[in-house]
Amino acid sequence: MQGFAGKVAVVTGAGSGIGQALAIELGRSGAKLAISDVDTDGLARTEEQLKAIGAAVKADRLDVTEREAFLAYADAVNEHFGRVNQIYNNAGIGHTGDVEICDFKDIERVMDVDFWGVVNGTKAFLPHLIASGDGHVINISSVFGLFSSPGQAAYNSAKFAVRGFTEALRQEMILAGHPVGVTTVHPGGIKTAIARNATAAAGLDAEELARLFDKRVAHTSPQRAAKIILGAVRKNKARVLVGPDAKVLDLVVRLTGSGYQRLFMPMLGKLVPSPRR
Ligand SMILES: NC(=O)c1ccc[n+]([C@@H]2O[C@H](COP(=O)([O-])OP(=O)(O)OC[C@H]3O[C@@H](n4cnc5c(N)ncnc54)[C@H](O)[C@@H]3O)[C@@H](O)[C@H]2O)c1
Repeated sequence: MQGFAGKVAVVTGAGSGIGQALAIELGRSGAKLAISDVDTDGLARTEEQLKAIGAAVKADRLDVTEREAFLAYADAVNEHFGRVNQIYNNAGIGHTGDVEICDFKDIERVMDVDFWGVVNGTKAFLPHLIASGDGHVINISSVFGLFSSPGQAAYNSAKFAVRGFTEALRQEMILAGHPVGVTTVHPGGIKTAIARNATAAAGLDAEELARLFDKRVAHTSPQRAAKIILGAVRKNKARVLVGPDAKVLDLVVRLTGSGYQRLFMPMLGKLVPSPRR
């Protein structure tokens, strides 16, 4: 894939899944990479692969919820490469559990990583992206930022918030005449460790939930997802739906308005079981 030669790209959560695939695909296309994760073993594997293909890479442990560290990291990346062109705010976690049984702290944790992590990354890097004269913010939401599911209130909240935040930012950049593209990404089921890394409320079997996700939901490879996302970034698309499932689900939601809830509930209720239902 061409089009990213010489660009400096930042990828959070690059030690696994979509983030790892994005980093490698960007490296193959000639980009220089600043990769980070809390999982330093996974991050080291991504760094090795990038070095093997000859990409310039800076790898750092970064927790996206730590705002001060994120701000310092943005300056360090800018200093290291001399500029920053793109940030992929990708790091994310899942949590399953009905509102009735979720702890406040579980909902807060998902918001901290999946929403505030995106806000931290966007705001930390925005001045550098504007200064580059050729910037792009790519924020990873989900199909769960387009419709809600029983058992996913925390994740839905974060992913809807990412969508709202990113769609506003795109308009702001255009109105201000800033040279920064903005893209919201809505993946469907991607074959990654997301469900295996996720937590679940008391009374739910997290392993069984992960098995169901792997078997019934995750159909698109992270490599394919990365190619689709980068294709959309090249065209500066406002929104990209990743995978055939995402396209169908988006269409149904747009055609039915709130009616999707009645349509999806029986299927989603089985996929995301709860001891209270
Ligand atoms: N896999 C899917 O089906 C799917 C669908 C829609 C959206 N997404 C989103 O895609 C993004 C990537 O997820 P994935 O599927 O590749 O999952 P993954 O679990 O394979 O990778 C996520 C990475 O984020 C890292 N991470 C978690 N918390 C972090 C923190 N506080 N700071 C820094 N790094 C942190 C993890 O260590 C991991 O390496 C997430 O935002 C996820 O919500 C995934």
